[in-house]
Formats: sequence, C-alpha cells, structure tokens
Amino acid sequence: MVQADPNSPPQAPAAPQPHVRPASLRDLDRLTDVLTASFYDRDGWRQWVYPFIRLGIYEDLKQRLKAQSPRYACLTAIAIPTADSTPTNGEAIAGTVEASLRQPWPWQGDRHVYISNLAVDQTFRRQGIALTLLRSCEQVAQRWGICELHLHVMEDNLAARALYRKAGFSVVQTEDSPASWLGLQARRLLMRKTLQPPTHLTKP
Ligand SMILES: CC(C)(COP(=O)(O)OP(=O)(O)OC[C@H]1O[C@@H](n2cnc3c(N)ncnc32)[C@H](O)[C@@H]1OP(=O)(O)O)[C@@H](O)C(=O)NCCC(=O)NCCS
Repeated sequence: MVQADPNSPPQAPAAPQPHVRPASLRDLDRLTDVLTASFYDRDGWRQWVYPFIRLGIYEDLKQRLKAQSPRYACLTAIAIPTADSTPTNGEAIAGTVEASLRQPWPWQGDRHVYISNLAVDQTFRRQGIALTLLRSCEQVAQRWGICELHLHVMEDNLAARALYRKAGFSVVQTEDSPASWLGLQARRLLMRKTLQPPTHLTKP
C-alpha cells in the first residue's frame, strides 16, 4: 500500500461526480440558458439579439425532446450539492449534451453516434462534468450497439479540443469553408473515438 507523504500539502477534495440523467421537457428553460450562455456572447450590441438566439435554441431543443426518437438522447448533468454550494430550488442543472445515431450512406462511412451541443454552466466548469457527460454518451452508444463516436469542434476552441483529447478523441479531418478561407471563421475539425466493442451487441 502507498503511504501518504506527511510533508506533502493537503490535497483538495475531488468534486463530487454529477448525476447524469435523460433531459425532459421540464428542463427546457434551464438547458436553453446553459446552451445559449455557453455558445453566445451577450456583450454590447449582442444583448439585443441574444433573446432571439435563445428563443431559436429553445424551439429547436423543444422539437428534438418532443420527438422522443429512439435514435436521439439529450442528457443533463445534475450537480451534487456540496457543503458550501448555494442552495437552489430543485436540481442544479450543470451541463448538457446530445447524442444521435447517424446512418450515412455506405460510401459516406459507418454508422456512428454524433455528439453535439456539449455545454457546461460557467459555475460548474473544470469539475469533470463534461468528461462525465462524454462518458455517458459512450454508454448510450454502447446501448445502441455502436462503437464509433464523432463530433465537430472549431479549431480555435482550445478548451473543448483539450477536453476531447483527454476523453480519447482524435482529429480525423479538417474542414474548410468560404468563411475560413477568408479568415473570418476558424476551421471545423472532425474528431472520432472508437470504443471497444461490448460483448453483447444490441441493435436499437
Ligand atoms: C468545453 C466545456 C464543455 C468543458 O466543460 P468542463 O466541465 O469545464 O470540462 P471538464 O471539467 O470535464 O474538463 C476536462 C478536461 O478538459 C480540458 N479542459 C476543459 N476546460 C479547459 C479550459 N478552459 N482550458 C484548458 N483545458 C480545458 C482539461 O484537460 C480538463 O481536465 P483538467 O481540469 O484535469 O485539466 C466548457 O468549457 C463549455 O461549456 N464551453 C462552452 C461550450 C463549448 O465550447 N462546447 C464544446 C463545443 S464543441
């Protein structure tokens, strides 16, 4: 057994792991807040368009949740309250992610699970919540009998790129667009992770 070094500084206790569950229509407002604030600025003139962007995100997400497709999952991470966390009414939604089963034409590649809209509320960042959500997507993929996970990330999103690298994804393609050629937008990177095939494969 490894003995703790009595001279080393005391270790900060690890943040408790969030609870991950499927999102429901009841979560819609809070999930929309997390997504909008994570992907869009509201500084200066942007505050005027922010409510319209929020409304668009709300309506899109509502449609996806209402459709209840067996090939789609929206997950939400619920923060576990700690002794010094601010008390909230109900659960504290800390983050979200969506996973969908994609079946491209045979010449376009294999069936895979596509991960999108991964976002963690500012207050809960760097506590391993995104990693936990990605692991939950892997479990969803395994339940669907799929070993390939794909996602896109913008080349200049260094935080997300570091996260995906840590989660075991690697870049397989760099995608240019007219806006990136003109230097107006970063390029998109396609990243992939292959899971170990589970012993029992269940088709969705
Ligand atoms: C990217 C994002 C989802 C990360 O969420 P998170 O819960 O803070 O991430 P985690 O705590 O699970 O981080 C795991 C690892 O990812 C990397 N990472 C995460 N955020 C990072 C940052 N800001 N800078 C550098 N590395 C970062 C680190 O390696 C980290 O491990 P460490 O904390 O032990 O160093 C969050 O910052 C976010 O919501 N960003 C805005 C939306 C977005 O860009 N989504 C991704 C779209 S492709």
